Parts: sequence; structure tokens; C-alpha cells
Amino acid sequence: MKGAVRVPVGDSELAVQVRGDGPALLLIHGFPFDHTLWQHQLKTFPGWRRIAPDLRGAGESSAPGEGYSMARYADDLIEVLNALDVAAAVVCGLSMGGYIIFELLRRHRSRVRAAILCDTRAEADSEEGRRGREEMIALAQSGGAAAVADKMIPTLLAAETRSERPDVEAHVREMILRTPVAGIVGAVRAMRDRVDSTPILGELRLPVLVVTGESDGISAPETGRAMAEKIKGARFAAVAGAGHLPPLEQPFVTTRLIADFLKNAL
Ligand code: MLT
Repeated sequence: MKGAVRVPVGDSELAVQVRGDGPALLLIHGFPFDHTLWQHQLKTFPGWRRIAPDLRGAGESSAPGEGYSMARYADDLIEVLNALDVAAAVVCGLSMGGYIIFELLRRHRSRVRAAILCDTRAEADSEEGRRGREEMIALAQSGGAAAVADKMIPTLLAAETRSERPDVEAHVREMILRTPVAGIVGAVRAMRDRVDSTPILGELRLPVLVVTGESDGISAPETGRAMAEKIKGARFAAVAGAGHLPPLEQPFVTTRLIADFLKNAL
């Protein structure tokens, strides 16, 4: 199967990119992005069926006004797997995509064969973090996606990406600008209210790779390394020259790390 399919998920419909055939690799974007975060990875991994949805409130999926939560995002993804007849997938999620993986592991563990956790963390938001979420909601409501892009971009990308890869910065800005305000506000509320996932780390018995950009200012490499140490058998890799978005900032290195992991994952 090739191209986008539309999958009904309760009150909404998701746009889902599907490429190739083979065991399923589900690519889950972060906030406030869409499936094009994985544009390089969607083109590679022959022998895998790559599935990259736009989450509800993102990209070309519906953006309802209410009802966003990590549980809802996770259940939506199960609807996607069901629609594509996938019993279980290797799941790869970046940042909020990682928060959703924790919810998949809590609610639907048998559907996850292995996990790649990029630039994410298991802890819930701190009090300060929750205050920051309120500010972000107010900013999105008053200034729209453009104000969110201006605020976030300096923290999303490594300094060298910003100076040497204007195309990457332009792509990130475009992704943010096409995210509806309802989707931004819904995602920020869902992240603010997510639970602490550290208790499940020690229970996990599946192959896990943790990847973090060396200059990630949102989920630091030390956070990724500490998380990997709590998961039995997990590997950790830091990506040089990348901030919060290694799949776009350092696509070759990131793709190779994922490819090496996939070779041994199943
Ligand atoms: C993301 O990239 O998904 C978000 O920046 C995560 C967060 O704000 O916690």
C-alpha cells in the first residue's frame, strides 16, 4: 500500500501515510508537528511497512475542539493498527510521541513489539512545567500557531541546525503553522495532564532503543540516558549535531540507529 489513507477514529478521522510491506513500524510525531517529521524515515527501511499518522489535531487529520488526552491519542493509534490489520507494531515516537508510547504500553501492551523512544521522558510535568503549559495555551489562543512557532523554534533546533540548515528550520515552522489552534491547545492540555510513566519502566520486557539529540533543550540527553538505565536491556544513543528533532536535523545518523535496532528487534 502507498500514500495516505483516512482512518475514522470515533469523532475524528486521521490522515495516515503508509509505505512498503513487511512488519509494521509505527512512527508517532511530537508536538506541534505532523507525519513529515518522519519524512526521511518514511522513505527508508525497505522490508518494513512504515505507518506515519497525523495525530488528531495535527496535519491533515481532524482537529476537534475537545477530548485530547494521551489515552485518546493511544486509542486512536490502535484504531489505525486495526484498520490496517496490524496485530502488533514496532513503535517509534518523538517527545509527545514517546508520551503516547507509554500510554500504549499501559493500555495496549500486546500491540507493541518493540519501542524507540526519541527525545522524550517518562516523568509527568513539574509544577513549573504545568505553569508553562498554561502560558503556551494562552499564547496559542492569543497569537495563533505563528506565535507558538516563534516561541518554540529557538528551543527545538541545535544551534548548528539553525545556522547551517535553514531548510530544516523552514520545514519545522511550516509544520507548526499548519497545526490548528484547537490541536495545539488540546495537545498542550494532554501533555500537562499526563501521568508519571516512570513506574512502568522497570516492568518493560521488550526491545527498547532510546535516542536523544545531544543538544536537546527540551528532553536532555541525561534524561534519555537515565530513562534507558531503568529499562531492562535498553540501549541509549545520543545524536551529535541535533537538538530536539534528530529525525530531521540528522536524518542519516538517526535512520541508521533505528535501522540497526530494527535488525535485532524482532
Ligand atoms: C514535543 O516535542 O512533543 C513537545 O515539545 C514535548 C513537550 O513539550 O513536553
